[in-house]
Amino acid sequence: MNHSNWAHWLAINMNTAMSESLTSPMSVAAPLTSDGLWFGKDLSTSEPISEAAIERAVVLMRSGRLHRYGEQGSGYPDPSLLEQEYAAYVGSKYCVAVSSCGAAMFIALKSLGVKAGDKVLTSTFTLSPVPGAIAHAGAEAVLVETSADYITDMADLEHKAASSGAKVFLLSHMRGHIADLQAVRTICDKYSIALVEDCAHTMGAKWDGKFTGTWGTVGCYSAQTYKHINSGEGGLLVTDDDDVAAQAILMSGCYMMYDQHILKPASAVFERWKYVTPNFSMRMSNLAAALLRPQIGELADRGRRWNHIYSTLARELTKAAHVSVPVRDAREEFIASSIQFTLDLNPTQMERFLKECSLRGLYIKWFGTPAPVAFTSNYAHWHYLTSKPDIPKSMAVLNQLLDLRTPISLTDDDCVLIGRIVAAASLIAAAN
Ligand SMILES: Cc1ncc(COP(=O)(O)O)c(C=O)c1O
Repeated sequence: MNHSNWAHWLAINMNTAMSESLTSPMSVAAPLTSDGLWFGKDLSTSEPISEAAIERAVVLMRSGRLHRYGEQGSGYPDPSLLEQEYAAYVGSKYCVAVSSCGAAMFIALKSLGVKAGDKVLTSTFTLSPVPGAIAHAGAEAVLVETSADYITDMADLEHKAASSGAKVFLLSHMRGHIADLQAVRTICDKYSIALVEDCAHTMGAKWDGKFTGTWGTVGCYSAQTYKHINSGEGGLLVTDDDDVAAQAILMSGCYMMYDQHILKPASAVFERWKYVTPNFSMRMSNLAAALLRPQIGELADRGRRWNHIYSTLARELTKAAHVSVPVRDAREEFIASSIQFTLDLNPTQMERFLKECSLRGLYIKWFGTPAPVAFTSNYAHWHYLTSKPDIPKSMAVLNQLLDLRTPISLTDDDCVLIGRIVAAASLIAAAN
């Protein structure tokens, strides 16, 4: 790869709004290194949509009935059925299908009464839709530190829960790393803080036998293409709380046709909310729901395949000098659609490492990418934050944190090759 190819890759990898998922350009170049190591696979590939989902989508398109609500009633549309099926899957009382996880998080905050100027605790290690949802609600994000294991730093959570005045903690299980949710819950309960889980990367995952998204008041999930299930765009909100559920249905934009939801609170609950709750038009379409319904049943198998890739890659990566991967708690039943690792090098060496990997056709994302490159996963690029965060520990972690998306199509041989490239690149970078 020549210099302009490298510069092009850097620009697209760092600037794209979905940079967390796009890890390689579509075209690949020939190897240019003397060791002959060359990966070159496109890590942004996705699994095809199942034939059952495609058939259902075609039926819907032929009917033209793509909006979930019908003035005359239309039976129970696919989003209502999806809500019923997903709630049964995670064991929640309600589920509301919406247009994205960002929409679910925004609706969660609004339905918990977050108002302009309120403080909301949230994770430092996350992606921009999370502080974005807080900003959308007019609130102020208070960033909680991230530990060396890429999860919530409990001491900082306790400190900021006690001192910030926040009444909500929007916890992001970023890249599928799950903190001790019992401990989080204990701290939240102690300070009367409602817990909202961002499960964009933990659909189907559990902590200590209980699904993520069901530990707090609200759980939010994504069905964007690079997540565990894929409808291009889409989100799910789960809750056991009657008032949150009624507001979520109204806010998502039901045009008062809430009777067309299978899972819904009693009419008296809607009576409390229906004249005072705005419609934010964040519904899920019939088409998206039709694509998603069969995928819920595929989650367990996908999870097994993804976790095999994760453990193979973790084994191969940690053969490299300077590389470490956190040892995960036995209570954490994650579903890893990506892998993160720490490279104990300085920023100049990190840049060299990334370049050496890209010369071998392997495109890795670095959470410590410095300004002025616009990047979505580092607080330094969220200039709309109203106060400067106090997060030295997290910055030390992010500055050495690397990330690879792991499509299910990766083979064991691919994992071995990735490990060899990382080992070669880290040695060259360390000697820099
Ligand atoms: C950690 C995290 N949370 C939330 C979201 C938001 O999901 P969506 O794109 O469905 O709004 C994303 C999206 O990539 C994410 O990575």
